[in-house]
Amino acid sequence: MKYTQRLSSFLFMPNATIAQTLLAWFDQYGRHDLPWQHPRTVYRVWISEIMLQQTQVVTVIPYFARFMNSFPDIRHLAGASEDNVMQHWSGLGYYARARNLHKAARHILENHAGVFPENIDEILALPGIGRSTAAAILAQAYGQRHAILDGNVKRVLTRLYAIEGWPGQKTIENQLWVLSENITPRQRPADYTQAIMDFGATLCRRSQPCCSDCPISDHCQAFQQDQPQRYPSPKPRTSPLPIKTTRMLLLKDEQGRVLLLKRPPSGIWGSLWSLPECNHDIDIADFCRERLGIEARGMKTGKVLRHSFSHFHLDITPISAHARPADHAVMASDERVWYNSRQPDSHGLPAPVKRLLEPTQDKSNPEQE
Ligand code: ADE
Repeated sequence: MKYTQRLSSFLFMPNATIAQTLLAWFDQYGRHDLPWQHPRTVYRVWISEIMLQQTQVVTVIPYFARFMNSFPDIRHLAGASEDNVMQHWSGLGYYARARNLHKAARHILENHAGVFPENIDEILALPGIGRSTAAAILAQAYGQRHAILDGNVKRVLTRLYAIEGWPGQKTIENQLWVLSENITPRQRPADYTQAIMDFGATLCRRSQPCCSDCPISDHCQAFQQDQPQRYPSPKPRTSPLPIKTTRMLLLKDEQGRVLLLKRPPSGIWGSLWSLPECNHDIDIADFCRERLGIEARGMKTGKVLRHSFSHFHLDITPISAHARPADHAVMASDERVWYNSRQPDSHGLPAPVKRLLEPTQDKSNPEQE
């Protein structure tokens, strides 16, 4: 940011005025009926903030309702099995969030007598909680003044102050933290936190920002340049996303149930239940016999399904086959289950596996990990 630009924005639009204008806008147009606002307990705010990371409000709402129904407080969450928690997250993506929530609930029970901490350092010590999330929880649940810097706020600030450079870059991010600290008011920190997020999500949108309705456009440097969409600068793309391939086996027993294996706790889809996977260079019948103790017959290859993660595409070739126990089968020690897809149960499944288990598959596949 050029010094003269910063000076002019301080002179003509003091931070306090920006915050007050955003609060007045929020009172009239902000979101006041989100499920986690009524009642706005720290537990509900915490769960909502984790669910809302990389995920839109409309997607989160039904997940939040189901989660609260099953795990109404920290004790219920800590006492639940990891499988049960993962099942409630199934389809929401970024599954490390659910594993961390569960671990954090157990940590709070053991180390804080089941009471969510009020101190930022203790919150930052919980798994899966970074600076912005900790600040959003403290502001909304306890009314403490803390600056936040999620994707929405980064966009608002880069436009307001015409900040060049990708906000994921450390120097730019540090600059944005300073601006966010400066702009955050002492009054109504909870409402202000929701206000700036709502403002970013509904008016100062990534594409088609509504500058004509914006209460602070007169003071927005990106608007003055008539280039709101120039900010934030995109991430420099080094190369296209790599494509990985795998084959997923839909092994059906005589009752039509499909074999699922539990994935290890770390890595993609950690702790979820998934189909056995076999690389393209391995013979499937040998793999089934030797690794799974299964004789696979009548193999059929299905249409390739692409699942896109944030850092690679996964092209999945589904192979279905009839399964029966192999003679002298030596069962591997994997956790396994025969899953009846006509009566879905409490197993947490990755989105593409869910799709492969459906009788009719839809081919689009937008979930991110
Ligand atoms: N994203 C993160 N937290 C949010 C909230 N409380 N409301 C809307 N979007 C959000």
